[in-house]
Amino acid sequence: MTEIEGGRVVLLTGATGVLGTEVARRFGLQGARLALVGTDEGRLADAARDAALDGERWRPVVADLRAADDARRAAREAEQAFGRVDVLVHLVGGWKGGTAVADLDPDELRWMLDQHLWTTLNVVQAVVPGMVERRFGRVVALSAPFAEKPAARGASYAVAKAAEEVLLRTLAREVGADGVTANVLVVRKIDTEGERDKNPSPKNAGWTTPSEIAEALVFLASPAAAAINGQRIALDGRA
Ligand SMILES: NC(=O)c1ccc[n+]([C@@H]2O[C@H](COP(=O)([O-])OP(=O)(O)OC[C@H]3O[C@@H](n4cnc5c(N)ncnc54)[C@H](OP(=O)(O)O)[C@@H]3O)[C@@H](O)[C@H]2O)c1
Repeated sequence: MTEIEGGRVVLLTGATGVLGTEVARRFGLQGARLALVGTDEGRLADAARDAALDGERWRPVVADLRAADDARRAAREAEQAFGRVDVLVHLVGGWKGGTAVADLDPDELRWMLDQHLWTTLNVVQAVVPGMVERRFGRVVALSAPFAEKPAARGASYAVAKAAEEVLLRTLAREVGADGVTANVLVVRKIDTEGERDKNPSPKNAGWTTPSEIAEALVFLASPAAAAINGQRIALDGRA
């Protein structure tokens, strides 16, 4: 069975971002219950409406995940609403860059580490102990090819994504025996406008649609994906 089992509880961060709605919709269709996390309740309500989530099966959780206390409270609120968290889909985003390393503003690098490394650590520490206790859990995040192959003037993004990836792949080695997996999907660009099909070019052939990403996330979150752990999986197969 490749579906997520009905009733699984998903903590979805970045729920209001370019991917959030489609990912929420897909998990909702599989019968999952969702705690949608973001920094603004109104935007979370919009995302839930766009994802056509049933009112009883989702909750808004307002939290700034750069703060460990907020991440712990987010996990608590999800557990109070639905009893537990089975799946963490971590899609917090943010980008700053365009400067050569020699001129890099340390604040830019700190901000990118906050968005990508620290939000990941905070939310993982908030939900993974419960998953280990229950001997089931799935953690999936999104990364970019630059984490492995940096581009000029993109150090902050590359460093932040590489740090996030290594954290999760280390986690995978620590919790795999407890029924918990942690994986990273690697996407060049999220093709929100369907550009790849409308204006095909070598540049956009390797872009990935929200629907394709959501399908992969649902699979990795499912019991069927138990043997996939600590992997960095690229979704750019058309390039
Ligand atoms: N976009 C791409 O082409 C692309 C390519 C490769 C990888 N990725 C990765 O894919 C993931 C999703 O990216 P995206 O482009 O969908 O992001 P996005 O559209 O920029 O959305 C960012 C999301 O993160 C949330 N967020 C930001 N700071 C937060 C904080 N401190 N605490 C809690 N939530 C916070 C935002 O919520 P609110 O603003 O509502 O609070 C929003 O839902 C990211 O990991 C990104 O690096 C993206």
